[in-house]
Amino acid sequence: MRKPIIAGNWKMNKTAKEAEQLIAELKPLVKGAKPEVVVCVPYTDLWAVSKAIEGSKIKLGAENVAWADSGAFTGEISADMLKEIGVEYVIIGHSERRQYFGETDESVNARLKQALKKGLKPIVCVGETLTEREKNKTKRVLKKQVIDGFKDITAEDFASIVIAYEPVWAIGTGKTATAEDANKTIGFIRSLVKKTWGAQVGKELRIQYGGSMKPSNAKELMAMRNIDGGLIGGAALKAEDFAGIVNYKK
Ligand code: 13P
Repeated sequence: MRKPIIAGNWKMNKTAKEAEQLIAELKPLVKGAKPEVVVCVPYTDLWAVSKAIEGSKIKLGAENVAWADSGAFTGEISADMLKEIGVEYVIIGHSERRQYFGETDESVNARLKQALKKGLKPIVCVGETLTEREKNKTKRVLKKQVIDGFKDITAEDFASIVIAYEPVWAIGTGKTATAEDANKTIGFIRSLVKKTWGAQVGKELRIQYGGSMKPSNAKELMAMRNIDGGLIGGAALKAEDFAGIVNYKK
């Protein structure tokens, strides 16, 4: 059985003070959470949030990680820096990184290898744009992102990996993929992983859906066979909304 995982991606929102406030509000609301709960927050919030989540089930995540151990990489943050603060998860290859900051499947692959080497749990994002979807290229795009992004990754590595399927056209737009559609596409990713890394790996791999997920659609999405969780943007910024997704079963 795959344990559901609901992760917030705060993106470039919340100062450290605001972050403390949000976690304080969130803590009581997710006390009895059934899924694994993660908050991936800006680097400047990590320290404050690591303290604020103490005594709760909430786990700490970052929004990226450098591919090198250390050195002349202005503006980057290393895996050791994250680990020392108590970071457990790290988002890699978010579509906004690909779109605005030149991330490619190759850089995603390098960051992924580094995260694994250092014992961070990667949440690797894949997804097609609207144009790609309209041109019927979804499968081709996802296949390239998975095969190139996960180059040299072993079956054993997959034990700590989560994939987030985020159709770019559904991010921050209010448009959600229908639950059936998301399930089908995630099923395609799962079968691709099965074919490439083995049936067991594909069966055990947790794959999240991301894109305008909110309390009102979480239950339907989470009821799908292939969907094991959500990567939540906008709705992760309000304690009540994020908790509403975490507690989708209630
Ligand atoms: P929204 O939930 O705001 O659509 O963002 C999804 C996302 O990009 C999470 O990584």
